[in-house]
Amino acid sequence: MKAATNLNDTLFVLFGASGDLAWRLVVPALFDLFIDGHLPSRFQLLAVDRSDKNDAEIALHFHQGITENSRRGEPAPEAWQTFAAMIRHIKLNVTSNEDFQRLADMLAETEQQWASQAVRIFYLATPSALFEPIATGLSTAGLSQDRSRVRLVVEKPLGNDIESFHKINDALCRIFEERQLFRIDHFLGKETVQNILAMRFANPIFEPIWNRHYVDHVVITVAETLGVEKRGSSYEQSGALRDMVQNHLLQLLCLVAMEPPVVYDADDVRGKKVDVLHAVRPIPKDAVDQFAARGQYGEGWIQGEKLAAYREELNVDPHSNTETYAALKLYVDNWRWQDVPFYLRTGKGMSNKVSEISIRFRDVPHHAFPASAGLNSQPTRLIIQIYPEQGIVLKFMAKEPGAQLRLRPVDMRFSYKEAFQTETPAAYETLLRDVMINDATLFMRADQVEAAWKLVMPVLEVWADNPAADFPNYAAGSWGPESADLLVASDGNSWLTPTLAKKPT
Ligand code: BG6
Repeated sequence: MKAATNLNDTLFVLFGASGDLAWRLVVPALFDLFIDGHLPSRFQLLAVDRSDKNDAEIALHFHQGITENSRRGEPAPEAWQTFAAMIRHIKLNVTSNEDFQRLADMLAETEQQWASQAVRIFYLATPSALFEPIATGLSTAGLSQDRSRVRLVVEKPLGNDIESFHKINDALCRIFEERQLFRIDHFLGKETVQNILAMRFANPIFEPIWNRHYVDHVVITVAETLGVEKRGSSYEQSGALRDMVQNHLLQLLCLVAMEPPVVYDADDVRGKKVDVLHAVRPIPKDAVDQFAARGQYGEGWIQGEKLAAYREELNVDPHSNTETYAALKLYVDNWRWQDVPFYLRTGKGMSNKVSEISIRFRDVPHHAFPASAGLNSQPTRLIIQIYPEQGIVLKFMAKEPGAQLRLRPVDMRFSYKEAFQTETPAAYETLLRDVMINDATLFMRADQVEAAWKLVMPVLEVWADNPAADFPNYAAGSWGPESADLLVASDGNSWLTPTLAKKPT
């Protein structure tokens, strides 16, 4: 385990240290970064929560989290000892200025020992209701002011609608500058998601056909097999549109539809992405049904296991109107994409866990081959696979070997695993490292989050005002409700079953 020599000494202050996010994702990612030599030699993890745990107890808690969730499994004893020695616990009540002052003293003390001014990263792995009090506490204790070395990381959801987003964001922006704020959308840290831009802009062959002249439509699918598990009470307040579409799916849309950046940096890439959101045709409130479909799973079987209906899950209202499935049909009104439908869908309790983007190209203008060559002619599709496969598949027609002229669809594949023969880092590793090197390219700027809220608000409002009469309307283990099929069928299209949805979760 070498340390990264190009990184400044770092104090990583993790609020919500006993929570699920810290345990499952943040600390395992930090540990994997440590093993790969991506942490600076002087690094401290300050675990902040309201518990009475001491340093050893919180370290033990993290050890379990790493064992269960790190891509490497249980830490080797020697590596663990070195990592555990960097962990300290601090009990803090977010309404207590004295507690924030104690935190400030601890940070100052460590910097004194190191004889350096460290980068200070405040990571809020807490409910968003605590963002404002924590930011205020940090400010009162003088911990927010040093713009160049203080960074604040926040998780989604940033609000529950555009109004609450403004409230939270305004509070953060009163205390921190935009360049200090790192808003996480973990999909942007996924290797295959980052590869979308590499594929589009590091190769000359895609760009000329990446437009309305060649692309017929685009399908973005993020399907999950799991139900809401123990998250019933918070999921009841969100639903699929807020939980997945407002952030992850719209970000995927931006990466597919954006113009080429002039330079690959935070300002330019995010500027080009927000241009896409601004170009999306607003969904009229009186025609939401033509652009959106919602669903809620009833009981069903997924890969041999029974899933109870959403309304029977823990902490879920037995008459719940919360959607566990959402689909949108969007148009990007600009020169490149005018009138090309982008179909987005996501759901829980679905047939397979699969995330992919399918670019469906236009049909050939004229069929020169005789009908005897094969009736199963299929359109050319480029599929960007995010999960479970990671790669790119081009589906096209080829001639079957033999004397007869027969055509058949075939696949040309690029697989990350086979091409690079190396393990891909978890999204959180990439994102945490980027915070440390102060690169915000893969993080959400305020205007992106705002534009995304604006886009989904008409649908959220209409759905809230008009409870669904047909919930539950899809069986767990299916591909979603019929209304979603009709949404695309009205254009003569279909969702198509995603490719290679092989691996059960
Ligand atoms: C989260 C959502 O942002 O993303 C969850 O809140 C969802 O509901 C998760 O399950 C999916 O992420 P991944 O990385 O497992 O595809």
